[in-house]
Amino acid sequence: MFCGAGGASVGYWAAGFEVLGVDIAPQPNYPYDFVQADALEFAAEYVNEFSFVHASPPCQAFTAYRRKGHGVGDGALNLIPHTRDLLTAAEVPYVIENVEQAREHLIDPIRLCGSMFALDVQRHRLFESSMPLAQPQCDHAIWEPRFPPATNRANLRKTVEVGVWRIPLEVQQQAMGGIDWMNLKELSQAIPPAYTAFIGRQVARSIPTPAADR
Ligand SMILES: C[S@@+](CC[C@H](N)C(=O)[O-])C[C@H]1O[C@@H](n2cnc3c(N)ncnc32)[C@H](O)[C@@H]1O
Repeated sequence: MFCGAGGASVGYWAAGFEVLGVDIAPQPNYPYDFVQADALEFAAEYVNEFSFVHASPPCQAFTAYRRKGHGVGDGALNLIPHTRDLLTAAEVPYVIENVEQAREHLIDPIRLCGSMFALDVQRHRLFESSMPLAQPQCDHAIWEPRFPPATNRANLRKTVEVGVWRIPLEVQQQAMGGIDWMNLKELSQAIPPAYTAFIGRQVARSIPTPAADR
């Protein structure tokens, strides 16, 4: 649900899942089967056809957008509670992902970081799950200052900023773990596939195997 151009989806694919993405906007670069629809409406009808659901509700209610007067309480929708209610009622195993600023809206999330996967992005993201997930430790000491900043400042950065024009797109794609199918806007909203490959391998051990695969 809320698949964007498929950063999360590619990780689940790598972990062995067949993936269907749902997003309200067209996603011409999405690499798997795709349905353009309101994810909550789609899930209300079809959720029981899936063995596992990942949801990345839009985070604009919690991030920079909020500072411009569009946050929770300013009219931007927080879709996390509605998403959880729907998935819990359907009793489908789920993961809900969001930014750190949404922590108070998530239940016991783990936090993943690029340093856990030797990526050159920090990109902390939270993952609530209906299943137990391992919590690795950040290791920010792996990074040395070596990347140009996106501003005029002289100091080199330890990690690559994502979603900025002044850094070559290829450098940003590489830092995210080789996301070479996305444009800058899509990349700025994506999570590294390494995060969901890590989660997906754990999920695959927790959920029942479909009868046809036994
Ligand atoms: C943060 S992006 C997801 C990025 C994705 N997790 C990735 O790794 O590439 C959130 C997406 O939610 C979509 N969206 C917003 N409201 C939606 C809705 N009601 N139904 C479906 N998709 C929606 C947006 O179009 C956007 O692509």
